[in-house]
Amino acid sequence: MAASARAFVLRHTRLRPIPGLEAIRLQLADEVLPLWHAIQVETGDPEAALPYWAFAWGGGLAVAHYLRDHPEAVAGRRILDFASGSGLCAVAAVGAGASEVTGVDIDPFAVAAIGLNARANRGRIAAIRRDVLDDEPPGDVDLILAGDCWYEARLAGRVLPWLVRARERGIEVLIGDPGRRYLPAAELRELARYEVRTTTELEDLDHKEGRIFTIGSATAFRA
Ligand SMILES: C[S@@+](CC[C@H](N)C(=O)[O-])C[C@H]1O[C@@H](n2cnc3c(N)ncnc32)[C@H](O)[C@@H]1O
Repeated sequence: MAASARAFVLRHTRLRPIPGLEAIRLQLADEVLPLWHAIQVETGDPEAALPYWAFAWGGGLAVAHYLRDHPEAVAGRRILDFASGSGLCAVAAVGAGASEVTGVDIDPFAVAAIGLNARANRGRIAAIRRDVLDDEPPGDVDLILAGDCWYEARLAGRVLPWLVRARERGIEVLIGDPGRRYLPAAELRELARYEVRTTTELEDLDHKEGRIFTIGSATAFRA
């Protein structure tokens, strides 16, 4: 699957710079539905997941902007990019000087995309297919990035408790979110806001306000 997933990603996307973050280039698609149909045909699965990995989402874009402005948040640290999708946050962490970066996602095409995007940006990123929300938060990570994970209720209901447990174990957390209804923003500490350029293939508007949050007060992050 790994080689064929890589070939599929390359066939259906184009390497391009991210508007406003031109140092980052990702394999991205223009349209959701034709690509989703191609995945259904490729996998023989009419219930196949949408191609989240073929787009840079508002939450991940906000994280990438924050890491560009605050590289000290990741420099020399071990980073886990949860729900990595294209690997956008992971690539931004590598660019900001992280020492070790891992991207995890449940979608095999995302794992292929993360590998391709790591190479396109000359970075080392370990890409793992796993639902880590069933595990205890990892002991060998300094900071977890979570870009745009609150777009549906079931996932949202699992992510924040897991991130809170990670924080209790001493792991720092950076969340990027473009105003999704399932993120309980009032429970978090806001650090920054960015106007991010997204696409009307995914959102109602092609510009969104992406907000950066952390959990708890005793972190080193600068607003
Ligand atoms: C909206 S995309 C965000 C991708 C990326 N972080 C960004 O901001 O561009 C959400 C991603 O979460 C992944 N995902 C959903 N449930 C997951 C889980 N339990 N564990 C890991 N990834 C998951 C999806 O496959 C998808 O790639």
